[in-house]
Amino acid sequence: MNKAWWKECVVYQIYPRSFQDTNGDGIGDLPGITARLPYLRRLGADVLWISPFYQSPGRDNGYDISDYQAVAPEFGTLADFDELLAQAHRQGMKLVIDLVVNHTSDQHPWFRESRRSRDNPFRHYYIWRDGTDGGPPNNWGSCFSGSSWKLDEATGQYYLHTFGEFQPDLNWDNPAVRQEIYRMMRWWCDRGVDGFRMDVISMISKTAVMPDGPRNPGSAYGSFAPYVVNGPRVHEYLQEMNREVLSQYDLLTVGECSGLTVEQACRYANAEGTELNMAFQFEHMDLDGGESFKWDLRKIDVVELKRVLSKWQTGLAGRAWNSLYWCNHDQPRIVSRLGDSSTPEMRERSAKALALCLHMMQGTPYIYQGEELAMTNASFRSLEDFRDVESLNAYRELTESGQMEPEEMLNCLRYKSRDNARTPMQWTGGPQAGFTAAEPWIGLNENYRTINAQEQTERLDSVFYFYRDLIRLRHRYELIVYGDYRLLWPEHRQVFAYIRALDMQRLLVVCNLSGEAAEIRVPEEYAGGELLISSCGDVTIRPVMALRPWEAFAILQEKYD
Ligand code: GLC
Ligand code: CA
Repeated sequence: MNKAWWKECVVYQIYPRSFQDTNGDGIGDLPGITARLPYLRRLGADVLWISPFYQSPGRDNGYDISDYQAVAPEFGTLADFDELLAQAHRQGMKLVIDLVVNHTSDQHPWFRESRRSRDNPFRHYYIWRDGTDGGPPNNWGSCFSGSSWKLDEATGQYYLHTFGEFQPDLNWDNPAVRQEIYRMMRWWCDRGVDGFRMDVISMISKTAVMPDGPRNPGSAYGSFAPYVVNGPRVHEYLQEMNREVLSQYDLLTVGECSGLTVEQACRYANAEGTELNMAFQFEHMDLDGGESFKWDLRKIDVVELKRVLSKWQTGLAGRAWNSLYWCNHDQPRIVSRLGDSSTPEMRERSAKALALCLHMMQGTPYIYQGEELAMTNASFRSLEDFRDVESLNAYRELTESGQMEPEEMLNCLRYKSRDNARTPMQWTGGPQAGFTAAEPWIGLNENYRTINAQEQTERLDSVFYFYRDLIRLRHRYELIVYGDYRLLWPEHRQVFAYIRALDMQRLLVVCNLSGEAAEIRVPEEYAGGELLISSCGDVTIRPVMALRPWEAFAILQEKYD
């Protein structure tokens, strides 16, 4: 097995807009992150991944970049960034930045040039096509509703935007585009950043011919996936990026890969290191999405969840590396989604059980800001409370077309909207949760008076310290980082349990992912094992055990034979 620091670390994701405001404009900023580094160090995070802070019109909160080498004024200055980086390093943490190069903002100088004329030198930085029959070139729908093509009056052609119409897709088949991006990446690496999280990187290579896609159920549009996701030259481009940039530095690289399969992951994140270190897959997050993969109110089924996550554990073993996550800025909060937030006690216990279940697996764990406090979905009431372009567009499209009733769709947003993850970080029970002195850009969750970092860090049995302990265990036991994985009791409807093995050591992980008691039979060799961590205090190991609701623990057997 190849050891590497990025396999042994825990990453903490920061959504800067919602983390900490320091200048009273209601928007989190880079100095706010610097100010909170001691908190992150106390948690034990090794690496910080910061969502985009670059110059941007902000229509997708910074995932629409108009200058890759400038800091948006609302987040601070380049000097603030350098200061954050230096301070993070001084406090023993690495810093990974977001690389959003599938598309730019339509305000990027490249695109402003590109749209001027068909023979502009920047024309082929983007993907332009003639329309067909007075409409767009094909039936592809965008991730943010509507067609993925936009007619540009000036030249009478359409440009491709797989996301918002303000996010034109770059043309990676143009070598000049690739070289510009590599140059920009080197510039950040030379500044000292420790890696990249690569936004929708599995979509950068498109087929040359772009036929209609299979129609999404109930939708007026077809799917671009067969022609865009894991496209024909994506691995060639990432290998080139690896040669030209990544291999020249000591970096953590993780690709956000929608539409990822195990076989594809073994290429993106191959153990030879010719592309990326690891990839984010979406399969476990899509389990409650229904046919639309998103706007549905299903519950995640524990048996299905075990099947999916175990497939990734064993499928990548020795061939690639997993990234482990429940939460990010695009996903609803996991306690509201899969846990139980009905009472404070169950909320904490379920948050711990879910954390334990994920953090004892093989792969690099990611914690999203507030997850360590068991922050919940937003408490929004009306449509006006939402800010996210995906949510607002989907609401309009699905209600106007009659596919959903307004109240039904609003309920979906309350459960699934990306804004659930984007409410301000809850630091204290005081005014504006200690996030800002002004009106925050998006509403606080009302529960900040009881759920906040101050309360959590003052109580030793809190979710915060549980996460800290999980990180410590990973630092302490190579078994947790590198051990093999084997699922136990795949058909058990409530309990997610598995064994990790390395040399003579075994780790038994048992998580009751339900609010009801659950019966299990514990393999007898663990009876004399050492309890490493538990979600509800002491555990007495017996051959037949009745687990309490959301009870979860890990037991180490040092000398297994
Ligand atoms: C990724 C980001 C998401 C963004 C989209 C377009 O999925 O995580 O926030 O809206 O790409 O850049
Ligand atoms: Ca601010």
